[in-house]
Amino acid sequence: MIVALNLKSNFTKSEMIDYVQKYQQLSSNEHQLIVCPSSCYLPYFSNVNLGAQDISCYEQGSYTGEISGAALKSLGVHYVLIHHSERLKYQKESIEITNQKLKMAKQYQMIPIICVGDTKEDVENNRSLGKIKEELAQLELDSLSNYMIAYEPIYAIGTGEVPKNNQIQMIISAIKELYPVPILYGGSVNDKNVIDLKHISGLDGFLLGNISLDIEALQRLLINLNEM
Ligand code: PGA
Repeated sequence: MIVALNLKSNFTKSEMIDYVQKYQQLSSNEHQLIVCPSSCYLPYFSNVNLGAQDISCYEQGSYTGEISGAALKSLGVHYVLIHHSERLKYQKESIEITNQKLKMAKQYQMIPIICVGDTKEDVENNRSLGKIKEELAQLELDSLSNYMIAYEPIYAIGTGEVPKNNQIQMIISAIKELYPVPILYGGSVNDKNVIDLKHISGLDGFLLGNISLDIEALQRLLINLNEM
């Protein structure tokens, strides 16, 4: 399975040095690990599948504070998280910006991991699927040859609340029917619930947040992924 790690804005320099050392000793068996650290720590990793948590919607140039696709590419980045709900919430990223970022990812031959998710309210009003389809329909995916979609219910991110397998299954199958690309699930996945979650059919992997910060727990998760 694909196991993407979103380290978010965690770790100081010394903590990251320690993390990288332990990360290199992880045994992932046949699983494809992708690590997405803060951009300033990208050069700390070598010989791994490297992802960025964001990409600038601008070309390189006079855009203070932005990290361009060209810069990321030169640091060995092959994957990039796009449309994560925390970017939408805190940076107020619009669909136009997301589409521009997708264009940049394509231009610099990176594989976007596009995050979409429903809210608790969507679930209560039985409109989760409609919301996700609508969101995906607004994205310019036609010209992309290679991308993944991560289904991340917003109410599940960092809360410990995970939807039932059949709810995830329903959304994953519907997405896959429209977009036949690898589909990940993300939102409060841990070393214990992964034992259940891995049985969702059609699921190609996971996008992990909190659990990815703790290498021992991550190792347990990877072991549990292997066991039937
Ligand atoms: P979480 O985060 O695993 O901490 O819920 C997932 C994510 O935001 O991608």
